[in-house]
Amino acid sequence: MQRTKFATLFRLWHWLMAFSVFGLLFTVLLRETFLNKKEVAAILTEKLATFGVTLSSEQAITVAKAIRAPMWEWHYIFAIVLGLSIALRIYLMATKEAQMPLLKLLQAEGMQEKMKTGVHLLLCLTIALLTLTGAFYYFKGALGFEKETVHWVKEVHEFLLQPLLLFVTLHIVGVIRHEMTTKEAIVSRMIHGDEVQ
Ligand code: HEM
Ligand code: HEM
Repeated sequence: MQRTKFATLFRLWHWLMAFSVFGLLFTVLLRETFLNKKEVAAILTEKLATFGVTLSSEQAITVAKAIRAPMWEWHYIFAIVLGLSIALRIYLMATKEAQMPLLKLLQAEGMQEKMKTGVHLLLCLTIALLTLTGAFYYFKGALGFEKETVHWVKEVHEFLLQPLLLFVTLHIVGVIRHEMTTKEAIVSRMIHGDEVQ
């Protein structure tokens, strides 16, 4: 069967978004594990004590945060890449080179197609909300908000990690299933874009 190809800019959008989302997830993973401020503070307190240096828990946390800071800068660098990919997708939708995810779902025929486009829509919505809440919290000072009054925005941002992980997993499982049960080679088409027979 002749398949329509994924256009170059469409593929660029897809991989830019996937790359930035994986990058953002990696920074969160590091923040929760090796560079967790409480664990780093505990190591600092323990090791410095062997040299006869004592640190209060506030001092240890301050140093641990300073160690983590250059890594966490990458959360914002990947956020910029994600922002660029969203701008590209909006451009593609405006020029009719890509469809609105909701429209794709409404036009989908058959259970499988509905499930696939449904996951795509949920993925896009979650990423859009993560970007809006993240950017709002990042610029809270410039927008004239106190940290305490907009703390709930950070909580929403943090909570959205869970649906994101779920939808990314469903997406990748769906893609692998499609790849293994059809001869459509969607992954290679999403990479090189060529039409395949
Ligand atoms: C966090 C990472 C990812 C995100 C956010 C993401 C997002 C998306 C979205 C929103 C679509 C629907 C595009 C549209 O038709 O409007 C899509 C399609 C697709 N994605 Fe991903 N994706 C990710 C990772 C991956 C990975 C790792 C693979 C390959 C293993 C992949 C392969 C594909 C393929 C082949 C399609 C086309 C599906 C089709 O139309 O049948 N994606 N992706
Ligand atoms: C895939 C997308 C993203 C995911 C999964 C994600 C995840 C997270 C998580 C889990 C946290 C909480 C970390 C913690 O306190 O332990 C966080 C914090 C934060 N994120 Fe994101 N994020 C994403 C995108 C963004 C974007 C696009 C921005 C925009 C600038 C952003 C800005 C922030 C900010 C400002 C914080 C608060 C850092 C702090 O002061 O503690 N995030 N993010």
